[in-house]
Amino acid sequence: MFDLTNKTAVVTGGNGGIGLGIARGLAQAGANIVLAARNADKTVSAVRELETFGAKAVGVTTDVTDVESIRSTISQSIDLFGGLDILVNNAGINIRQRPEEYSTEDFQSVQDINLKGLFVFCREVHQNMATRGGGKIINIGSMASIFGLDWAVSYAASKGGVVQLTKSLAVAWAADNIQVNAILPGWIRTDLTAPIETKFPERFKQVSERIPQQRWGEPADFSGIAVFLASGASDYVTGTAIPIDGGYSVF
Ligand SMILES: NC(=O)c1ccc[n+]([C@@H]2O[C@H](COP(=O)([O-])OP(=O)(O)OC[C@H]3O[C@@H](n4cnc5c(N)ncnc54)[C@H](OP(=O)(O)O)[C@@H]3O)[C@@H](O)[C@H]2O)c1
Repeated sequence: MFDLTNKTAVVTGGNGGIGLGIARGLAQAGANIVLAARNADKTVSAVRELETFGAKAVGVTTDVTDVESIRSTISQSIDLFGGLDILVNNAGINIRQRPEEYSTEDFQSVQDINLKGLFVFCREVHQNMATRGGGKIINIGSMASIFGLDWAVSYAASKGGVVQLTKSLAVAWAADNIQVNAILPGWIRTDLTAPIETKFPERFKQVSERIPQQRWGEPADFSGIAVFLASGASDYVTGTAIPIDGGYSVF
């Protein structure tokens, strides 16, 4: 039920953090992996690690703000592996600033990666998945898909958008047998959140104290949910947004 042998997955931003945690899970379940991110050095070492699981893995330098880069990544993946079965839209950034000090350019650059890039990737894989009889799309949201963040307004707006976009695509492509779901990470130890402890020590303390499972998450906490949402085990699950948060969103 959870076997991904002969399936091919593209993971955007899969060269580190949560994306690599997801890629490890998919690779261990048997999938071929395409890591799509900008930093080629990070991608090379992530590919090497995935190969130790016996997976076929490649890195393709990709910038999700550039539609031609997205198209090229998709066509290279199809040429290499014959088609695409799984898309994980994980690439994301945050710019932390009070709203009254937030520049228009910063607001836009967060939207371009977190929401527009995610939409364009979905749109561009649709035809291949639909022609092959179906597929799985997993979009990465956030606790900011649910809660407001006074210190990261563009991030929260983009992640709220990810959930609504996920629901809309799930409805639009249900007849194509494409299941579209979102994962909402809680507070996870990665490069993205590393500055919080030193730059925002009060926030770090507040967050740490209200996680019911009493620890921050790790990239490995995303392997299992990704395998579930990428596999036949979730064939009647679509349009959902599943928190992986140690209970943060229900406390
Ligand atoms: N950590 C958390 O607590 C947390 C909580 C909620 C949601 N999330 C979400 O989880 C996802 C992964 O974040 P993370 O915490 O694992 O942080 P991370 O380690 O910084 O990973 C982000 C990834 O996105 C890639 N990326 C950024 N801009 C890109 C672009 N224009 N084109 C292609 N790839 C790009 C980066 O790779 P390159 O720099 O090589 O391009 C990087 O691998 C993000 O969507 C984030 O919003 C994280």
